[in-house]
Amino acid sequence: MAEIDQIREKWGSKIGFVLAAAGSAIGLGNIWKFPYITGENGGASFVIVYLICIAVIGLPVLIAEILIGRTTQRNPVGAFYKLSQSKFWASLGGLGVIAGFLILSYYAIIAGWALGYIIESINGNFYLWPDPTSAAGHFNDLVSNNYWNIGYFAFFMLLTIAIVFGGVQRGIERASKIMMPVLFILLIILMIRGLTLPGAEKGINFLWNPDWSKIDAKTVLLALGHAFFTLSLGMGAMLTYGSYMSEDDNIPTAAFQIVFLDTLVALIAGMAIFTSVFSVGLDPAAGPGLIFHTLPGVFVKMPGGYFFSILFFISLAIAALTSSISLLEVVVSYYVDELKWKRHKAAIILGFIIFLIGLPSALSFNLFSDIKIFGLSFFEVVDFLASNILLPFGGLLISVFVAWIWGLDKVIPNLKKGAEKLFENYPITLVFWKIFIKYLSPVLIFLVFLNSIGILDKIIELFE
Ligand code: PFF
Repeated sequence: MAEIDQIREKWGSKIGFVLAAAGSAIGLGNIWKFPYITGENGGASFVIVYLICIAVIGLPVLIAEILIGRTTQRNPVGAFYKLSQSKFWASLGGLGVIAGFLILSYYAIIAGWALGYIIESINGNFYLWPDPTSAAGHFNDLVSNNYWNIGYFAFFMLLTIAIVFGGVQRGIERASKIMMPVLFILLIILMIRGLTLPGAEKGINFLWNPDWSKIDAKTVLLALGHAFFTLSLGMGAMLTYGSYMSEDDNIPTAAFQIVFLDTLVALIAGMAIFTSVFSVGLDPAAGPGLIFHTLPGVFVKMPGGYFFSILFFISLAIAALTSSISLLEVVVSYYVDELKWKRHKAAIILGFIIFLIGLPSALSFNLFSDIKIFGLSFFEVVDFLASNILLPFGGLLISVFVAWIWGLDKVIPNLKKGAEKLFENYPITLVFWKIFIKYLSPVLIFLVFLNSIGILDKIIELFE
């Protein structure tokens, strides 16, 4: 394990860190996944459960992750080693690096579709396939065209590599400081467009009037799992970004700002999408295809839809890019810290390897479409493995590690650095954090994990 500290890169400003971390959090999870799972799970009631999950699990675990990074000034592997002096925990940190490889390998494929759809919308192609069925057909034609699918995937990976190549301040921070405000403005324009459409109130009702009959234990666990994904937790991305912070930065406040921005964007995206979908009488429960199958037809029917469709897919691509750089950064920081690679070399080589790892997933829409593993395509297997297994498992390890291995008596003095005033004025926040991270998070995350791997069903059956 590398012990000698080189001069480590640092964020240039507090706001730079918050925007970069919010950029990691805000991504396809907010604009693509959150609206469609909300649509499938009854709207407002799901949103409320999700908000609770974010507050009681997401925020405490986010604080823990950033704190591990700031205290150790290391990548996930080096960080766990430094705090525990145990190879076992270091190898668990290695799972985060592996998750970085895997998640980016399929995340960049969907992000590539967003890039491709910017061009589709500029070309006015949605007008040729105006209803959801024909739009879905067109989408399937595009993703099964290897030149289109792999071409945009490669292009998106190049953009990601270029930013990470630039380094923490001149690459990631600078890109986030430009892209995040643009993203907010675009999404607000899209929300206003949605809200001013005839029939928009149906979409608002859907998002804000709860239907509790739709909520059961499964939906709660789904919401919890999504809270992890959307906050980039459980694989060391926030840990790595935290490792470029200074001791006098206030972690709880920054974490709160990140969570706030992430939630705000999910809700704004939800408002923009549901008002539009309802106003043209389409189905909000369209599933993963909501954005690529349903929305094109919505834009076609909406005044100014041509223009708004371009803005929408630009937002989606920007959101994905500020997340993908954090995924690549986890992997790069490991090679830079532990294996002493130069950042430039690491960004290019590792980015290329991730592209290669993603090829089977990309080809699963065409050449490999007949290959199924447990009934799932490559793409679905990698998604399942990363988001349903590695992330909750990582989140579990992080809360267990902080509360039980590193130990709260050592953790609290570190957490207080930079946040003295907050804890003096609101000591209750610290009490809550301790309870959540020590007891509530591990238990709840364990349940999500069991649910994700399908064991919870069997246990519930035993009791029925
Ligand atoms: N939070 C991102 C999203 O909501 O799209 C996804 C993500 C990024 C997950 C980075 C994990 C991660 F490390």
